[in-house]
Amino acid sequence: MYYIGIDLGTSSVKMLLMDGAGKILKITSREYDLEFPHPGWSQQNPYDWFNQSMDGLKELIADCDKSQVAGISFGGQMHGLVVLDSEDNVIRPAILWNDNRTVKEVDYLNNVVGKDKLSQYTANIAFAGFTAPKILWMRENEPDNFNRIAKIMLPKDYLAYRLSGSFCTDYSDASGMLLLDVKNRKWSKEMMDICGISEAQLPKLYESYEVVGTLLPEIAAELGLSCDVKIIAGAGDNAAAAVGTGTVGDGKCNISLGTSGTIFISSKNFGVDDNNALHSFDHADGAYHLMGCMLSAASCNKWWMEEIIGTTDFAGEQAAIDKLGENHVFFLPYLMGERSPHNDPNARGAFVGMTMDSSRTDMTQAVLEGVVFALRDSFEVAKSLGIEISRTKICGGGAKSPLWKTMLANILNVSVDVVETEEGPSMGGAMLAAVGCGEYASVEEAADAIVRVVDTVEPTPELAAKYDKRYQEFKQIYPALKNVFENICNN
Ligand code: XUL
Repeated sequence: MYYIGIDLGTSSVKMLLMDGAGKILKITSREYDLEFPHPGWSQQNPYDWFNQSMDGLKELIADCDKSQVAGISFGGQMHGLVVLDSEDNVIRPAILWNDNRTVKEVDYLNNVVGKDKLSQYTANIAFAGFTAPKILWMRENEPDNFNRIAKIMLPKDYLAYRLSGSFCTDYSDASGMLLLDVKNRKWSKEMMDICGISEAQLPKLYESYEVVGTLLPEIAAELGLSCDVKIIAGAGDNAAAAVGTGTVGDGKCNISLGTSGTIFISSKNFGVDDNNALHSFDHADGAYHLMGCMLSAASCNKWWMEEIIGTTDFAGEQAAIDKLGENHVFFLPYLMGERSPHNDPNARGAFVGMTMDSSRTDMTQAVLEGVVFALRDSFEVAKSLGIEISRTKICGGGAKSPLWKTMLANILNVSVDVVETEEGPSMGGAMLAAVGCGEYASVEEAADAIVRVVDTVEPTPELAAKYDKRYQEFKQIYPALKNVFENICNN
């Protein structure tokens, strides 16, 4: 049988067709607009997600035996607030994971309700991108829209709803709403009260590998598929990527270098760090994970290459970099503020340390290194909790760069295992669909059967030592600039 994974990303939607043995048969993608109506705001139109997904799906299955398609599932950009009225109209553009408009609401949640209470109710504290602060923002700033809300859902859940009619979400994605009691896998009554919403407005909760429905007849007819095709809940994109790279079970690590950068640590047991610097979320395999998320990762490189130096030859620019560990230029990658571990929407990007002989190549190198140094900040938090990480998988667009993988191995001082497919969330989505349709008994069984490591990038002691010294310098820059950033933002 065939399984489809849909990765509903920030810049595009990717669709992947996989057979029961895990072989990828075809991949398609479609782009859509991202609006920044004010500095720090980030929105998208859910109708674009649906229309572009339908278009991409048609191309995906154009040449295959459609009777073999058994299930569809998802990995989706997390935390986005999608609101529908009682007639299923989208009330306003979705407010995305990297939107920073909720500074006031986050302050209220963390400092008036209190971090201890939030952590007790949800296992997490408030971050600007999380969903609950956005609901409070709507209540305060768009009361008419707020009063029309019949359904609240996450981005990928909107696709599931349009495809199947099932108003559903999964635990991994719901974890990022700050409305879920992550430990006990149920909506938090306290958080619903704080946000002024009721359980009827929230989707039904499922494990990521559970069937939530089948294709609606009109959608099946439009795609030329059977009405029996199953829709499986799916996961937040990081949990789906973890499935796609085999990061399931206990103590495994995956790093995603996409628009955002994440470090994801799977765990059989529930756990929270004392400062809530890492997110404590449910995993798509039925267990838990810890995660650090930086808001701009591969997007920093894209910005530097395309917007600033005006090239699309990423590999060509990187080929000139030959002095690893010796760069005196540093880059702070906080182009959209920062989530983990600083939780500072006012943080900004910065180049530091240039001299008259600094070159374009040094600055390109600094951008790539700055992203990994910032990931190491979250990695250090995980280490401080006693979690030992000696190897990691990698996925996302940045995983295609051999140089970035070498930096990652040496800056974090870990072995970087490269898997056969770096597709991450779409692969994980297809694997969850296969589990939901009974092709595999569990997510772990699917990962064992399908995911293969094809290469490993090892750190070298000299380079790791050089980078350790550089990281100690990098670490001092954000605290030194924190107040400057705040002044810049508030004036
Ligand atoms: C995770 C997060 C991002 C988005 C990107 O907490 O906000 O990784 O899921 O799509």
